[in-house]
Amino acid sequence: MDKGFIMNEKIYIAPSILSADFANLGSEFESILAAGADWTHVDVMDGMFVPNITIGQPVLRSLRQHATKFGLKTVFDVHLMIDRPERYIESFRKAGADVISIHVEATAHVHRVIQQIKLVGAKAGVALNPHTPFQMIEGIIEDLDMVLVMSVNPGFGGQSFIPSILPKIRAIRKLAKKRNPELLIQVDGGINAETINLVVDAGANVIVAGSAIFKKQNYAKAIQTLRKAAFI
Ligand code: DX5
Ligand code: ZN
Repeated sequence: MDKGFIMNEKIYIAPSILSADFANLGSEFESILAAGADWTHVDVMDGMFVPNITIGQPVLRSLRQHATKFGLKTVFDVHLMIDRPERYIESFRKAGADVISIHVEATAHVHRVIQQIKLVGAKAGVALNPHTPFQMIEGIIEDLDMVLVMSVNPGFGGQSFIPSILPKIRAIRKLAKKRNPELLIQVDGGINAETINLVVDAGANVIVAGSAIFKKQNYAKAIQTLRKAAFI
């Protein structure tokens, strides 16, 4: 759990289990951890905030219990793509979330929900859709553990990276240097060996990857390829 909240030099790889084979979720989960994944990214979609419906607390709970049972270490990174996420903070924490990210576009009371996340003992992240300016978090940057910059429109895995979000990562990193040096910047969507260095160069340090890992035969090789490409 302490992983990644102090040392900004390290890159954390967070495979998105949305691209896993759900019929074999337990073994897919074990495989990505054995392959060197740092975090486990869990995409929760409600069919309202985004057009798709995915998974919720029961699946997270099962994965958490599986990790405990077999002594597997990970950070459960829960990306809530749901309207009015304030309704579900407590239940996702209870189900096992370590980090909870909510969308700034999904609630009228972002600061209050951040406090709610911290109160239940999780780390707090705020996600920004591709069109959402970084100024949306400018007033509350000190209160955040992480900003999640979406590099696709949320809803589906396997979409193409949107390069126009790069200046936004730079702007957030610049602001964070002054006001919250330990802030994690996560990027999510379309990350692969061709795009990872762009976002790392801009200042991101937590990298979500779905297709770039799960669509490959060898997960360890896929993660190593991403890590190598991050600094090219
Ligand atoms: C998109 C999700 C992403 C997605 C990433 O709404 O938040 O986490 O699964 O998948 P790739 O890496 O395939 O774009
Ligand atoms: Zn996500």
